[in-house]
This record gives sequence, C-alpha cells and structure tokens, in this order.
Amino acid sequence: MANQRVVEIFEAFSEKAKELIEEQKITHEEYRQFCLWFDELGRSGEIPLFMDVFFESHVLRGMYGDMPGTEPSLLGPYYVDNEPELKEPFELPMRPDEKGEVFYFTGIVKSLDGKPLGNTEVCMWQADADGEYSHFADGIPEYNLRGKFKTDDQGKFTVKTVIPAPYQIPTGGPTGQFLDYIDSHPYRPAHLHFIIRAEGHDELITQVFFDGDKWLDTDVADGVRNSLISNLQKQGDHTTGALEFELRPVSVPAKNK
Ligand SMILES: [Fe+2]
Repeated sequence: MANQRVVEIFEAFSEKAKELIEEQKITHEEYRQFCLWFDELGRSGEIPLFMDVFFESHVLRGMYGDMPGTEPSLLGPYYVDNEPELKEPFELPMRPDEKGEVFYFTGIVKSLDGKPLGNTEVCMWQADADGEYSHFADGIPEYNLRGKFKTDDQGKFTVKTVIPAPYQIPTGGPTGQFLDYIDSHPYRPAHLHFIIRAEGHDELITQVFFDGDKWLDTDVADGVRNSLISNLQKQGDHTTGALEFELRPVSVPAKNK
C-alpha cells in the first residue's frame, strides 16, 4: 500500500533534483562520481553524521523557527540512551583523573508563562576535555559524562562536570572528505547536550554553548542559537555557567507538528 507522505515528498524531491541537474548542467560523469561517493558514505556508516551536519538544524528551524520558547538544536549522532540516573548533588559520571576544568552548570526550567517546571527529567551528555564522547572513542568508560536527573521544585538543577572541548567531526571518512571539497573546517564549538522532558510540554532537545568560543560563528553543524549561549564565570578553582530553558506547552502548536 502506498504511503502518501512518501509519495508526496519523493515527488517534490525528484522534481527539485531534476531542476538542479538541469540548472547545474550535471554531467553523466559527475552523476557517477556522486553515486560512488554516496555509496562510500553509506558503507562508512556516516550517513547519520552527514545528515546531522548538513540538514538536522534546518529541519528544526522549519519546525520551530519563530516559535516562543527555548530554541532546539541538533540531537547529533552521539546520543546514547539508558544513561545512569544521578542522585543529588548531581555530578556526571567521570574518570577519577578526568581532564579539564571543573564546571558547575545550573539550569532553570520554566514553562512559557514563567512557571517553574519541577520534577522534570533532564538528560545531559557532552564531550570530554579532549573533545571525545564515551561510546564513540576508545578507552573511555561507558556513560562517561552522560547522565539524567530531575529538576527541583523551582525547576532548577546544578550539575558538576568538566568544560568540554570544541571538537572536530570525524575527518577521516567521506564526510571529512566532503568538507575538504567545499573548503569548510570540521569544528563544532564546545557544547553541552540536553533533552528536557516536562509533562504537558514539548520535549526540548537542545545544546548550550559558551560565550567567547572561537567556533560560535562558523559551527560546521549550524547548531548555535544566540539564546543558547551561556556566560562562563571563573570562580577560584572552578567555573560556573547557567541558562534558563523555556518549554512550550503542547497546546501551543508547532508549525509542522
Ligand atoms: Fe556534540
């Protein structure tokens, strides 16, 4: 049985692709080169990476651009579910000798009307001070710098972690090769990843960036939004940062929902 949504999207895609072929005068040789490269992309397992880098942000903008509330940012390819549930005082699981600056991040989760959202589930994951994620780099324990916890009555949480480093997306495969072709650098600014789930509200998948990061303006994955930038404050032997998250009640319709 035909899936009407697939029919509709494929027809539109095919029409636009044919227009592009004509407009760019794409040759048969170029077409064949593309097929080989695309095949290699699939074999390398980098299709999710490539799509997240070039298109995920655009999908989110289409759904949520101009909507009230904290802007979403890409989930990216490095999320792992079943992360450990943390007990207060929250501290992301880390190695005894975890590299990097000690960092306390405070979030306040509110509804659009300013009402604090207590007992809200917050999932958090991040790269380490070398820009590497557990489960995706060798030698890092499972669930390192990944955890979930709940906000308090005031919708607030503070979690101890380390400042993540900016990182390069993998450059050794076809996605990296492609970045060379288009003369783009492979860096993402340092960031924390969050999924926040409050009852009666849209799930918020987003990221928090840090003021002053040199890659903020040219994030290869186009994930930065001004409202997601936190100021870092050096306080003796550690650093603090904070951000308010405003969740949208499900009753407020998203554009493409
Ligand atoms: Fe990331």
